[in-house]
Amino acid sequence: MFNSALVNRFRQLETPFYYYDLQLLKATLKVCADAAFKHHFHVHYAMKANFNTEVLNTIQSLDFGADCVSGNEVLAAINQGFKSDKVVFAGVGKSDKEINLALDRDIFCFNAESVQELQIINDLAAAKGKTANIAIRINPNIDAHTHHFITTGLEENKFGINTWELPVVAAKLRQCPNLQFLGIHFHVGSQINDLTVFRDLCSKVNEMQLWFQDEGFKVKILNVGGGLGVDYHQPDQNNIVDFESYFQVFADYLQVNEAQEVHFELGRALVAQCASLISRVLYVKNGIKKNFLILDAGMTELIRPMLYQAYHQIENLSKTDSLKVRKSESLEDGKIQSEELTTYNLQPTTHYDVVGPICESTDCFRTDVELPESERGDLIAIRTAGAYGEVMASGYNLRDHVQSVYSE
Ligand code: LLP
Repeated sequence: MFNSALVNRFRQLETPFYYYDLQLLKATLKVCADAAFKHHFHVHYAMKANFNTEVLNTIQSLDFGADCVSGNEVLAAINQGFKSDKVVFAGVGKSDKEINLALDRDIFCFNAESVQELQIINDLAAAKGKTANIAIRINPNIDAHTHHFITTGLEENKFGINTWELPVVAAKLRQCPNLQFLGIHFHVGSQINDLTVFRDLCSKVNEMQLWFQDEGFKVKILNVGGGLGVDYHQPDQNNIVDFESYFQVFADYLQVNEAQEVHFELGRALVAQCASLISRVLYVKNGIKKNFLILDAGMTELIRPMLYQAYHQIENLSKTDSLKVRKSESLEDGKIQSEELTTYNLQPTTHYDVVGPICESTDCFRTDVELPESERGDLIAIRTAGAYGEVMASGYNLRDHVQSVYSE
């Protein structure tokens, strides 16, 4: 991802910053759009993954919808050019102010997460003489086999409405004249690489839509949420997710009739690989038990490793002396059949705990990282940081807000 011209460009810049490869973002969006639209699936981009203006601008230009979880995300999506009739609004705690704002913008749909919320949306819509489109977010009680903190679809989680509450939901929908029931919504969790989880989700969606139909409701929208994972370990080899296989699961296992639409809310899979956090080594502290590489970026710029024990690949961009060996296999007639490029690092390496400057012991990107022997001033890239990176940055320790730099 980083050629010498780019590293030279980085050398002139103040660190830390997020570097966005907008070409890779566009390529990812194109692959996703082609794979989804082939099945007539609708994709809403989950704004929470990254609401950097350039990123949003690129995504909306490809005609994706937006999945929002706050009033401000609804506003940002619309201001950025997403069409309001392609905006969905989820969240367990929508305030009256946020609901009113979304009603005023005539968004496509509210994903309602409790019986009480249905009543509130109905009352606020009635006061404006409007009807609000509703999808019921159902907690499918499916284990996403992902990190505990990013699992959302189990009964112990706060999200969605449990299936045993659905009779009350049906009664409430019948009593609320200012709600228009559109369909059902699910989201099982994030960073899911096991596609069987989505197969199980399809079974649940099929079961639930039948339940609503038996109750006399027309189910027009099946919204299956997001959650598709990315490869944090091999960002260059797998820089674009296998969207084909993902959408194929839903094409194969979801029961969809001609009047229905299938909607997705993808965040991470669209934006994770297009950005890296670039920082500099401030100090190298060699101890008896540990060697510390102290960076000028920390948990205030990228909190995922500290919050979810998330793995991000760490590279020293200033020490890239390597030998590229081309191994080729040839046929009997001498023609080259396949070629493989293997990179051998020529630098002596050391194991480091790569840490940030924040006054917290948890401010550590990873322990025991093997890197070329590093020195003050070296540029360090922390990869696959485009999703839940810049947007989760904080001002703790009164740090400067992290900057963004874009591919040319
Ligand atoms: N839809 C709903 C209702 C969601 O709650 C989420 C993510 C998404 C869609 C998008 O999921 P994705 O396709 O990005 O997996 N900060 C955590 C991830 C939190 C995900 C929250 N919900 C992390 O850094 O891993």
